[in-house]
Amino acid sequence: MRTLREIPALRETLADIRRRGERIALVPTMGNLHDGHLALVAAARELAEVVIATIFVNPMQFGAGEDLDAYPRTLDEDQAGLEAAGCDLLFAPETTTVYPRGLEAQTRIVVPDVTDGLCGASRPGHFDGVSTVVGMLFNLVQPDIACFGEKDYQQLAVIRRMVADLHFPVEVVGVPIVRAEDGLALSSRNGYLSAQQRATAPRLYQTLRELGQALEAGEATGPTLASGYARLQEAGFAPDYLELRAANLEPVTPTTREAVLLAAARLGKTRLIDNLTLTLP
Ligand code: PAJ
Repeated sequence: MRTLREIPALRETLADIRRRGERIALVPTMGNLHDGHLALVAAARELAEVVIATIFVNPMQFGAGEDLDAYPRTLDEDQAGLEAAGCDLLFAPETTTVYPRGLEAQTRIVVPDVTDGLCGASRPGHFDGVSTVVGMLFNLVQPDIACFGEKDYQQLAVIRRMVADLHFPVEVVGVPIVRAEDGLALSSRNGYLSAQQRATAPRLYQTLRELGQALEAGEATGPTLASGYARLQEAGFAPDYLELRAANLEPVTPTTREAVLLAAARLGKTRLIDNLTLTLP
């Protein structure tokens, strides 16, 4: 697997790939790769001749006071993991390559509606940073397919909307959440948890599952969510939100069947997110 850091080298390599008529699947990441990321590479491997991963800790999607500086950077291990998972090419640019004029001067992609609420409410500007950098990566790589995890459910919805609105010729593929044995969704941020917090963390998914069962059995949404919120607080979480939405993230109506339960909660300084798709009665 080759690692490229500069745009001209990337363009040269892409031109060779296209001359050969091969399809490209893109897997954008911020590195510190775990089995969740590698599942995206495995999915991409099935869908195209060439798999390109990117590692870029994107400053535009971090808010003031968030963990941009502390975010784990583990390029050597990431390269080994990607290579073993069958990735062909890694693009890992410097910040000055991606944003040569700085963040303030950068043209942005802003996706309305889908970015309202949920993580968009607790992390203002976050999704503008995500859509801007992913749109830029789509322009640079011009992939046929791009794989994203369902763990970041709202992010996936934002990218699907951006692709539709801007007519990107990219097929967006969602990949199911990869979890630890105790149910905790794998995340680079899990490494911030103390041993005690790590023991508490699976309660987030357990709570979603219990609420999901109740909602699928026809229990009323309001009281079910209220009791879930209280249970998370009792377990030691500070919840940002716990919401039931239609699968496309629009509000639930009496006719909604395909739905998703989404949560974000802090354990100490670490913010965890998770979700569970449901079929309502
Ligand atoms: P990052 O958090 O590194 O995640 C990269 C991709 O891996 C995302 O599509 C995310 O949903 C997926 N992923 C992470 N944990 C997962 C898990 N446990 N199971 C399945 N998929 C998982 O998301 C980002 O980076 C950035 O916002 C990015 C899209 C790269 C733009 O900067």
